[in-house]
Amino acid sequence: MLAMDESNLTCNKRFAAAGIPQTIEMRRSYRELIVTTPGLNESIGGAILYDETIRQQTKNGVPIADVLMKAGIIPGIKVDMGAKQMAGFPGEKVTDGLDGLRDRLAEYKTMGARFAKWRAVIAIGDKIPTNSCIEANVHALARYAASCQEADIVPIVEPEVLMDGNHTIQSCFEITERVLKILFYQLYKYRIDFGGMILKPNMVIAGTGCTVQNSVDEVAEATVNCLLESVPAAVPAVAFLSGGQFPEDASKHLNAMNKNFQNRLPWILTFSFARAIQQPALDLWKGQAANVEQAQKLLYKRAKCDAAARRGQYNNEMENFN
Ligand code: 13P
Repeated sequence: MLAMDESNLTCNKRFAAAGIPQTIEMRRSYRELIVTTPGLNESIGGAILYDETIRQQTKNGVPIADVLMKAGIIPGIKVDMGAKQMAGFPGEKVTDGLDGLRDRLAEYKTMGARFAKWRAVIAIGDKIPTNSCIEANVHALARYAASCQEADIVPIVEPEVLMDGNHTIQSCFEITERVLKILFYQLYKYRIDFGGMILKPNMVIAGTGCTVQNSVDEVAEATVNCLLESVPAAVPAVAFLSGGQFPEDASKHLNAMNKNFQNRLPWILTFSFARAIQQPALDLWKGQAANVEQAQKLLYKRAKCDAAARRGQYNNEMENFN
């Protein structure tokens, strides 16, 4: 899956960093660039949209969701309203968006959305995460997932343990395991059908500021072991976020999991990346029409690499393909 559901705020931040004007038309052009990439459907089966995007059209007047469906890519929709500071818990966030969710899901369904996404954010730091933060976030995830299943929309349940910080891979393992175990107990209590959801977790990886960074095989092993401890086998698929990893690292990690643990995985292990697929294309595009074709080639290539990694068939030579 391709996550292309950045909120306007996040999309504008990425545009600003790449020197692209932060306008509604630029966001529309960029999303058109993505969905009209030739051959994207060879690697991508679903694309997560943002509210603004699902209401937009290509310059030829075709709704973005229709372009995807025509290519055999299922449109999905981000339905959370963002992670906000949690009152009374400095440094921690809880995700908003349950109010009015039933009506919004019904509307998105008429627009073609068949799955949804809700992201909870867990930070690692001094004495955090607290249990209160984890509980508030998994409660919202469970209520969201129940609303989706009621509407016959597949929930992607995303509890993201952030890479920010100088924590070790062991610390990421322990906290990810705790979050997932509490999450699945909550999903059980809220009567979620595990067979009708997708989990979107972080990989188990050292913080970006940690002095010890682990090998590809170590990250793959820690991630698979953590998931085996905490994710029921009834869940059909686990689709990782990339979390700010370099695109090639994200491909390598996913590849190693599928290659090294092929016979131990009860679920499909795949990707639902945003930055790890989009970033090179965005940097090259720079908002210029003349760069669209080249940018699409980069997007196509990253999606190809990740689709190969999902089968454990990625290798370095694929990076040289243009
Ligand atoms: P990244 O792959 O950039 O982490 O984004 C995935 C996502 O959808 C975050 O909600």
